[in-house]
Amino acid sequence: MDLSPHDRLIVALDLPTVAAADAMVERLGDAVQFYKIGHQLAYAGGLTFAQTLIGAGKRVFFDLKLHDIGNTVGKGVESVARSGASFLTVHAYPQTMQAAVEAKRGSQLKILAITVLTSYDDNDLAAAGYRLAVAELAAARAAQALEAGIDGLVCSGEEVPALRKIAGPHMVLVTPGIRPAGSASGDQKRIMTPGKAIAAGADYLVVGRPVLQAADPKAAAEAIIAEIAQAQN
Ligand code: C5P
Repeated sequence: MDLSPHDRLIVALDLPTVAAADAMVERLGDAVQFYKIGHQLAYAGGLTFAQTLIGAGKRVFFDLKLHDIGNTVGKGVESVARSGASFLTVHAYPQTMQAAVEAKRGSQLKILAITVLTSYDDNDLAAAGYRLAVAELAAARAAQALEAGIDGLVCSGEEVPALRKIAGPHMVLVTPGIRPAGSASGDQKRIMTPGKAIAAGADYLVVGRPVLQAADPKAAAEAIIAEIAQAQN
């Protein structure tokens, strides 16, 4: 994939208000061009704020993890596609994925599938009625995503090599849980440095707290981009 180091960094705007998000985007300036909007900001004005970002030439990743009957998912995806957003997440259920892929046709929107939430372990899956272990279910869903024509997967750095084998060279692998050396892991368990995740084969890195909570967020973002550049060469 022909991406510059700068293209590969997605900053998660995990902030409570549009004012806070706007101030962060202002501070980051030209250093960051791709932003993730998740539930917290989306339901606090972030859907409208995304229009401002897109209007300013930024790219937007809506991490809304859609899952509903196919018709409802399809209508939601049509609305997101019209907004000009670049990425949208859906849960990796075959009906949901097929409806999303059908609905985004002809737009620039890429659909990313969530295979198994990273907070789930084998016991959580058993409690939810699944007989498969996390690794088995993630692999099965990645194969189903490929078959459904999904554009990419969200996965930890550790999962990248195994999922790349299943997903092939064209699927986009987007990796959260990134921690530059020396930064706090927070509640993330499966963490990797930016350089290691890129070297493992991730296409995009999602970074939240290491940028948002840095004394100098712009410098933190630039340091991550520099590490990506080093790993790419
Ligand atoms: O602050 P931090 O860098 O841990 O933020 C990571 C972002 O990636 C958060 O928005 C989180 O919801 C998201 N994410 C994650 N792990 C996943 C999927 C998404 O941390 N498996």
